[in-house]
Amino acid sequence: MRAVRGEILHFTSDPAVGGTEALRHFADGLLIVREGLVAEAGPADALLAKLPADARVEDRRGRMIVPGFIDTHIHFAQTDIIASPGGQLLEWLERYTWPVEQAFADPAHAATVAEFFCDELLRNGTTSAAVFPTVHRASVDALFEAALRRRMRIISGKVLMDRNCPEFLCEGCEGGYVASKELIERWHGRGRLLYAVTPRFAATSTPQQMRLAGRLFAEHPGVYLQSHLAENRAEVAWIHELYPEARSYLDVYERFGQLGPRSVFAHCVWLDDADRARMAATGAAISFCPTSNLFLGSGLFDLAKADAAGLRVGIGTDVGAGTSFSMLQTLGEAYKVLQLNGQSLSPERAFYLATLGGARSLYLDDRIGSFAPGCEGDFVVLDPAATPLLARRSAACTTLAERLFVLMMLGDDRAVAETWVMGEPAWRRP
Ligand code: GUN
Ligand code: ZN
Repeated sequence: MRAVRGEILHFTSDPAVGGTEALRHFADGLLIVREGLVAEAGPADALLAKLPADARVEDRRGRMIVPGFIDTHIHFAQTDIIASPGGQLLEWLERYTWPVEQAFADPAHAATVAEFFCDELLRNGTTSAAVFPTVHRASVDALFEAALRRRMRIISGKVLMDRNCPEFLCEGCEGGYVASKELIERWHGRGRLLYAVTPRFAATSTPQQMRLAGRLFAEHPGVYLQSHLAENRAEVAWIHELYPEARSYLDVYERFGQLGPRSVFAHCVWLDDADRARMAATGAAISFCPTSNLFLGSGLFDLAKADAAGLRVGIGTDVGAGTSFSMLQTLGEAYKVLQLNGQSLSPERAFYLATLGGARSLYLDDRIGSFAPGCEGDFVVLDPAATPLLARRSAACTTLAERLFVLMMLGDDRAVAETWVMGEPAWRRP
């Protein structure tokens, strides 16, 4: 058993819908984890009285304990090209992405980057993520092995590409199908790992490969599907040339059976209302990637329209087009993107999206994203006084909303004092 005392915040529903009823906030709270799972979260005075007299309580008063962050879209193989300047999406892919991904054919290189990547997620308070590796089996094995050792909840799967990419990343579509099947057998459901069929985007797969990806998704109940959708205007125009029969970019994925519960599409900047309605009706989810959309000049995500359509939305860092592993920083940039779009993002909603909202978008809210009893004991201990400026600004705050807003605007990895996975310490700030 583990008991941690501090300020505790989590959500039971979306504050945009449920208002303050959606929050569970204990100014002096206790989180009790048994055998890796949340037993209870509540007021410290009441819960301490129930603990055995010799129970050890970790004292984190002055810090804020929230569920582990959930990054719903990130590329581990792009760790080494984060902050590479110049060009919008298609040029950026050619210039940086293809060359850096080539190296993941080498298992030793893949393992080195996977180790760094998983540690970097934990250092930033991220305990669950939906991750793109590369086309190479070695990249999938390396990522899952690194995550398994850290007991993280990682969704990933071999990237599928069979056209419009360099020879060294291209493979026959049958080969990608067979390799994916083998990897599903090897990894799906092992520890906390889950497999995602991963057609990179409709431009780099032939219709044959898109059909096989849809088949993999249908043939393996419980498996995910992840891809990119409607990120950049030139990309959208290209998709129309490649699939002239499709009504829209989204419609390409639908025609090949790739929409449904557990399908997750990054970006979704250039959707129309019909697309949003189809995504909502099928249960597909969006990963909103603000730092990436700003960095590549892709456009401004419309959260209000996604909400109006009743869509599931999570937050993605999209490293390496995204510019930070920090979900706190990513929330700060989400706020600014929505400002440019005439919309707002309350700090409560922001923290919901990074936790329970992400879990709901992945259909994992019975396991992660909150401190509901039985959920996996992943949590982050945030330090509102991590830097002199944060300390000064936080001290002047009078409400929870203000303090959350300051954390998401000024906070980053420095504000993550500790990260716990399944009730055990996984990272501690030196
Ligand atoms: N679309 C297809 N591949 C990628 C990628 O690696 N990054 C981003 N941001 N968009 C993509
Ligand atoms: Zn991406």
